[in-house]
Formats: sequence, C-alpha cells, structure tokens
Amino acid sequence: MDYIRGLSKTAFQEYGPYEDMLPDWFMAGITVTLLAVVEEHPLGFAMIRRLGRESRLHRVSELLAIAVEPAQRKRGIGDLLLNEIQKAAHRTGVETLVLHTAIENMPGRGLFKKHGFILLDTRSNFYPGGQDAMMMYKDIDTG
Ligand SMILES: CC(C)(COP(=O)(O)OP(=O)(O)OC[C@H]1O[C@@H](n2cnc3c(N)ncnc32)[C@H](O)[C@@H]1OP(=O)(O)O)[C@@H](O)C(=O)NCCC(=O)NCCS
Repeated sequence: MDYIRGLSKTAFQEYGPYEDMLPDWFMAGITVTLLAVVEEHPLGFAMIRRLGRESRLHRVSELLAIAVEPAQRKRGIGDLLLNEIQKAAHRTGVETLVLHTAIENMPGRGLFKKHGFILLDTRSNFYPGGQDAMMMYKDIDTG
C-alpha cells in the first residue's frame, strides 16, 4: 500500500488525490493489483476493478491506474504490466477493459493505443485537477 501511495503521488498528483484513492481501493480488496518487481524492487503497478455485479457489468473491469517509476520508463515495463493485467482479468472472466486517460497524457495514450484500446468517448473536466479525459475500451481475448 505504501508503494502504491508513493508512486501514485509522483505519477498522478496533478490529476487529483489519487495517492489516497488508489491505496483506499487497494485496501478495500476490490481490485486486482499487479506489481512489476525486479530483484525485489517494485518498479511499477497496474490496478483493475470490476465495474459492477450485474451480469453484463460483471464482465467489465476498469483499469484504474498503471504507473512505472519515472527513472524506469521507456524500458518495456508498461507493456509488461498491461499484458499481465489483461491476462489476470481474462482469468477471472472479464471480457472487456475500460479506462480513462487524460487527453494531454501522451505516454498513456501511446501505451493504450499500442495495446489496441479504442476511443469510446471524451469527458470534459473529468479529473479533479480539471483535465479532460478520453474513455477507451478493449475486448480482451488473450489467454
Ligand atoms: C504510461 C506509462 C505507464 C508507460 O510506461 P513505460 O514503462 O514507460 O512504457 P513502455 O516502455 O512499456 O512503452 C510501451 C509503449 O507506451 C508508449 N509510450 C511510452 N512512453 C511514451 C511517451 N513518452 N510518449 C508516447 N508514447 C509512449 C509507446 O507506445 C510504447 O511502445 P514503444 O516503445 O514500442 O513505442 C508511464 O509513462 C507512466 O508511468 N506514466 C505516468 C502514469 C500514467 O500516466 N499512466 C497512464 C494513465 S493511468
């Protein structure tokens, strides 16, 4: 939890109080969270959460966050985390992932586009920090 809080502060502070929200969701036990670890050092994390309990929404999860340590970016760790979280989602019966990312967030947009996420909608003033967001989705069929 401390690790998620620390990296969330670095990665998401400009968008809102995610250094509080992400650890809260993690501790509530409602997420699947993966850490990327090299020689016992965590280098990043990815977190998903089911959207709902109804039958249709039960098969949809939201990618709440994916973040890599600033000094470790552009080395394939984001790719690895996104591949593994899709596999973890698939294993638990999830068929579709949705996410929001800031329109101005070019690294995030590049990562999600590379992995086949499709633009569904845009939302003005989505983040507490005032940034606009893109909502994206992907139907996952990976094993
Ligand atoms: C987005 C983020 C997780 C990417 O992690 P990363 O480990 O640097 O990503 P990778 O090295 O695996 O790169 C994977 C792909 O992401 C895209 N990408 C990564 N950095 C990028 C950048 N600076 N500009 C544009 N695209 C970028 C590219 O498509 C890249 O594929 P390529 O190397 O074949 O071109 C990282 O930049 C980060 O932690 N950002 C802060 C948190 C954030 O904004 N998360 C996304 C919203 S939740």
